[in-house]
Amino acid sequence: MLAQASPWHAHALQRTAAAGLAEPLLVPARMEWTTRPGQGPDADVLGPDLRGKRLLELGCGPGHNAAHLAARHGTHVTGVDLVGLQVRRARSHYGRLHNLTFVAGHALHHLQACDGQFDVIYSVFGAIGLVTPEFLLPAIARRLPPGGVLAFSVPHPQRGGRRPSGDDRPRRDHVTLPDRSRLPIARWEFSPDRWEKHLSLAGFWLTSAQEFHDPRAGHWPTTLLIRARRL
Ligand SMILES: C[S@@+](CC[C@H](N)C(=O)[O-])C[C@H]1O[C@@H](n2cnc3c(N)ncnc32)[C@H](O)[C@@H]1O
Repeated sequence: MLAQASPWHAHALQRTAAAGLAEPLLVPARMEWTTRPGQGPDADVLGPDLRGKRLLELGCGPGHNAAHLAARHGTHVTGVDLVGLQVRRARSHYGRLHNLTFVAGHALHHLQACDGQFDVIYSVFGAIGLVTPEFLLPAIARRLPPGGVLAFSVPHPQRGGRRPSGDDRPRRDHVTLPDRSRLPIARWEFSPDRWEKHLSLAGFWLTSAQEFHDPRAGHWPTTLLIRARRL
């Protein structure tokens, strides 16, 4: 029953069943923004000196990037994920680390309900792109000071030969489960120009948009990484 609540829950459920108990893990040596581990920028995309900064990750999954940022960069990280199972997994992997908190909840609700400000908010194939940008981006802006950094990676809107959305509505996409079955989700598939428009309406300026390829996926780009700052 619960598995029907969200494709992301079904995804986490199968992962957990396949992987068994989540063990404590070593902290990853770098941050991953793309579909291809070791590729693309590391944590430097979030700013030159992160020590002591407050970070929020939207859609943290099992918490690998949050763990890296807390343990290797001396940041205070909160990772939020819609699915309680993912949060439990993240806590099993990295709950021993200092300055790292994992919270179950919808990204938008968390932004509306949490206290205080962050220096950096980021998402790696997480909630940004999966939640209505007209609601999510202004809620993020309210939690950042002027100059605060927002960075997020999303599946590239031209992956596999697709076309970016011609309007502001979401497209139908799928989550592929570990057993290869697919469940439908809605995803906002914006080009960098359209992201720039939405970011600007929410009080950000876009500072970079980079695309990355993965040779395993042919010649189309697979990842779009956007960086913006609060005005
Ligand atoms: C593709 S996974 C990426 C996980 C992680 N960022 C990583 O790179 O390993 C997407 C994650 O976003 C979470 N998610 C989806 N919608 C969300 C929402 N509205 N609020 C918070 N998390 C969400 C899912 O539960 C899932 O764990």
